[in-house]
Amino acid sequence: MSSKPRLWISRKLSDATEARAARDYDVVLNPEDRAFDAEGIIAMSGDVDAILPCHSEVFSADVTARLAGRLKIIANHSVGVDHCDLAALKARGIVVTNTPDVLSNATAEIAFLLLLGAARRAPEGDRMLRAGNWNSWSPSFMVGQEVTGKRLGIVGMGRVGQVMARRARGFDMEVHYYNRKRLAPELEAGAVFHENLDDLLAVSQFLSLHCPATPETKGLMNRERFAMLPEGAIFVNTARGALVDENALIEALKSGRLAAAGLDVFQVEPGGNPAFAALDNIFMLPHIGSGTRDTRDAMGFRALDNLDAFFAGREPGDRVA
Ligand code: 8YV
Repeated sequence: MSSKPRLWISRKLSDATEARAARDYDVVLNPEDRAFDAEGIIAMSGDVDAILPCHSEVFSADVTARLAGRLKIIANHSVGVDHCDLAALKARGIVVTNTPDVLSNATAEIAFLLLLGAARRAPEGDRMLRAGNWNSWSPSFMVGQEVTGKRLGIVGMGRVGQVMARRARGFDMEVHYYNRKRLAPELEAGAVFHENLDDLLAVSQFLSLHCPATPETKGLMNRERFAMLPEGAIFVNTARGALVDENALIEALKSGRLAAAGLDVFQVEPGGNPAFAALDNIFMLPHIGSGTRDTRDAMGFRALDNLDAFFAGREPGDRVA
């Protein structure tokens, strides 16, 4: 019998991550990248000391109550932990970690791609060409919104939000933000702090969400809040679908309150919202914010660093429960 801790890696991760895990752990891999439901997760928990899951594996209170006693740690391959009932896991004495920092650049890149693509109608143009429908040209054709010099509102000025602000400064945008706490001046770097979200919305020609999904932030962007944005604003979400009332978003896009939206995350994943497909002014991506080779390796290594610390009897650096 192996003396190494037994680790289940629930999804197919990067080759470098799996090689390092196989070196240091008695590892159970998922080469077919099969998605596990609650029963599958519960069954696996009886056979391992640790799980390295993605946000696709849900550890609800019900699942947590049925996890086997052998399981000691859940080392997530994600910064978001809304798929984990932290209070229930803590009560069961199961340690939980996440992977902050390492995905901030990749996620902000996708947020900025969505912002630019939505503002300049990039997906519409791409679809037109693919369909063979580019039949004419005129100066009034496919006119979009200029990004340079405009005001960007950032909701949640954590690690990803701060990178987003830096990228926006490269486009001479005026950065405003709402955060639970005001940042120190060196981190704020000239961004304008708003003590409440509604004040931020009123000035945000562009709005990008970078806060976690929690019971407090669920449905944060509802009908009333979309109505507070300036007419013709552009909305970007790379955080979590749960932050948005998707019907209110559709209404705001149809009424012209919003000129366009760029979305990487949805209430239902995988799949997204089929009603969005009828709207030309939504630029959609399938939750690929952190999906670069460099970042996937870094996320895998960060999760393994947390496991290594735990099994060496040290406090994992990214413990959240
Ligand atoms: C990941 C994410 O794609 O880290 C997060 O919270 O949503 C994404 O970066 C995903 O969680 C990978 O497991």
